[in-house]
Amino acid sequence: MNDDDAKLVTRFDDIYNLPDCTRYYQAMHAAGFQNAQHAVRAFKVAARELCRQRNTGALHVLDFASGYGIGSLLLRHDLSLAQVLDRYQGSEFSGASPSRVIEWDRDWLLQNRKPGNIASICAVDVADNALDYGAKTGIFDVAYAIDLQSDSPSDGMAEILRRCDLLIEVGSVIHLLPDALKRLLDLTAGRLPWIITSPIRGNESGESVAMMQESGMVVEELPIPPFPHRRFLDGAEQERATRLVGERGHDPDGYESTGAYHAQLYLSRPEHESGRSIRWDDRD
Ligand SMILES: C[S@@+](CC[C@H](N)C(=O)[O-])C[C@H]1O[C@@H](n2cnc3c(N)ncnc32)[C@H](O)[C@@H]1O
Repeated sequence: MNDDDAKLVTRFDDIYNLPDCTRYYQAMHAAGFQNAQHAVRAFKVAARELCRQRNTGALHVLDFASGYGIGSLLLRHDLSLAQVLDRYQGSEFSGASPSRVIEWDRDWLLQNRKPGNIASICAVDVADNALDYGAKTGIFDVAYAIDLQSDSPSDGMAEILRRCDLLIEVGSVIHLLPDALKRLLDLTAGRLPWIITSPIRGNESGESVAMMQESGMVVEELPIPPFPHRRFLDGAEQERATRLVGERGHDPDGYESTGAYHAQLYLSRPEHESGRSIRWDDRD
């Protein structure tokens, strides 16, 4: 993969690390972002099955490349992605200071809290301000700004990562960072988590899949049809994505040809926990 391809959907770099989520969610609203809604529906099914198999009522979750925490937010609150994205369209948000937005969001999220089977959420990202927003609003219990692709975790962070049952990611970053994935797999080798991610088609990586398999995991592409991630911003994005999905053996017809990036879901489970097939249309 060349550098250009690795940056497949990172046109929003300048708004990933602001003191609050307003501008990011306004941009996602404008771009027709949908990935998190589809992905978290499957994350919830996986979480229920994992609870059943590990005979536990509550899971420790790691949200990798969490950004402001949309995956975690939808996992532990009774809110839809549309409700979240619509919220920041109001003019009061555009003019508000980050501390005011954090205060409003903390209250709003408290009112809509539905922890279900989630015991705790730890977030990892390189975007320290976004993590700070997520921690202060109660989306994350703990958050670490670290680039695991190049750096090892502290002892304290390693301890938290080791107890993780379920690693979630809305997006593709873990598929693009084999060294970070290797660190996480090595750290958790004694008790591997389930890993469920929603990479954009064309971003899924054979190297990362092989690494998980070598660590004793069974990796499945879920039997859920690809779903829209967000609209292309221009023809150049569409052309590049179409080329890339073609190179990975996907047919763009009916997917990228409709004008949007599409994503699919991958689940990796330790071999001894991979026997049972899961009903992905199971609703809570
Ligand atoms: C496309 S955004 C997705 C954020 C979030 N998952 C969402 O759906 O809103 C990509 C995220 O990857 C993060 N990221 C980039 N490089 C990273 C790295 N080396 N380790 C962890 N996160 C990284 C960015 O800071 C950003 O938050």
